[in-house]
Amino acid sequence: MHKIFANTLFIGKQLISLPSCHSTNEFLAELAVKDTLFEGAVVITENQTKGKGQRGNSWYSEPGKNLTFSVYLRPKFLKPSQQFDLNRIVSLALYDLLKKMCPMAKVYIKWPNDLYVNKKKITGILIENNINQHSIIQSIVGIGLNVNQTDKLLETATSIKEISNVEYELNKVLSDVIMAIEHYYLMLRSNDARLIRQLYEEKLYKKDVVAYYEDKNGKFNGVIRGTEADGVLKIEDESGALRRYQFKEIHFLL
Ligand code: BTN
Repeated sequence: MHKIFANTLFIGKQLISLPSCHSTNEFLAELAVKDTLFEGAVVITENQTKGKGQRGNSWYSEPGKNLTFSVYLRPKFLKPSQQFDLNRIVSLALYDLLKKMCPMAKVYIKWPNDLYVNKKKITGILIENNINQHSIIQSIVGIGLNVNQTDKLLETATSIKEISNVEYELNKVLSDVIMAIEHYYLMLRSNDARLIRQLYEEKLYKKDVVAYYEDKNGKFNGVIRGTEADGVLKIEDESGALRRYQFKEIHFLL
């Protein structure tokens, strides 16, 4: 069972801890329809049996070893065009945590919101928003963070223990993530989107370095130059032209 000792104003004050659950994002979405949830409610499970990933993928996490949880937010102060700022703040919160826990490692945010440590993925973030014409009514922020798992990790994945050789108490890591998310969420709520965008750009993987990509027209060398306010990724190609990509339109090769 999970407990949160976080020193927060609202995130994690309502905590639903489940021994097993299909998907914490799905569970929270179902709960939001039928029950009154407080902003900041967290659903967490020891054993997620049907975790949802981006692009319709699944998310596997060894039971009892990692964090799999979702946070319920009501960011009505954001317009639909500002949705990507939620990806930014959650990425920044995890970036800060990973920098603190793995100080010697290279930590980056891989667009749009994957956290990479030493070139391997350590966190998956799946943010599902309900929007109307004017604002974001509800946001379910799902996070899978590899903490103590060292077996059965994909070649391309890692965990905090694999990097630092230290086994962590999951409740402590959860409290730290939640405090970091609240910190950036409050920054966003008090209209600091410019600073948030700047901090996000500084931590972007492959920013300002030549790398190899593939889009619908084929493979090419390019340089990430940053993101638009709405999250569109800008890559300069060899001819000097700026190409713009929505989520799923570009693949990072190598
Ligand atoms: C990705 O594909 O990188 C995103 C993975 C997101 C996984 C988390 S685990 C907790 C939450 N519940 C889910 O079903 N998915 C997210």
